[in-house]
Amino acid sequence: MKAIGIIHDEHRSLAAVLYGMLYLLREIRLRGEQPDFDLLDSMVHYIDAFSERFHHPKEDAYLFKFLSMRYPDARPLVDRLETEHRAGRKKIRALERMFVRYQQRGPMEFNAAAKAVQAFAAFHWDHMRTEEDRLLPLARIHLTADDWKLIDAALIGETDPSFGVEAGAEYAAMFRRIVNLAPRPIGVAPAR
Ligand SMILES: [Fe+2]
Ligand SMILES: [Fe+2]
Repeated sequence: MKAIGIIHDEHRSLAAVLYGMLYLLREIRLRGEQPDFDLLDSMVHYIDAFSERFHHPKEDAYLFKFLSMRYPDARPLVDRLETEHRAGRKKIRALERMFVRYQQRGPMEFNAAAKAVQAFAAFHWDHMRTEEDRLLPLARIHLTADDWKLIDAALIGETDPSFGVEAGAEYAAMFRRIVNLAPRPIGVAPAR
């Protein structure tokens, strides 16, 4: 079940960037720091690309599909999570628009931006927690050994290059860029 480890790792990467965003906004609030829009945009872009093009499609095409097939009672849960994947796309567009407004109009938009980031992070955490606490345990029970073989082969990129090492490297590079741009303690750039 390499797939389960892969999903957990990807959740940790997403969570790290969500925490990073919250941290940056807190520093602006507490220390009056200037927002680093280059960094905030990189974070939004990473979450958008990584979750929309890489992480959610794997869940939809493999875990959700197989669980619905093997255990139809899980369908309401799968429906909910799929609906959240679609909602996530709209939420990220709204967050991008929020940051553009914040950049154009300045501090008067700070509270709205901070609230939007908090709601966005809470949405993703709840979604990931539901997958880890409810969906993955059901998948462990109800999927067959052959299902796992097929899913693992896809998620390590053997049979599905769009999910493989090369595709993953693109997102790892984006993640590194964020770490390089972000000030300590969330990244490695000197504190501003
Ligand atoms: Fe998901
Ligand atoms: Fe997920």
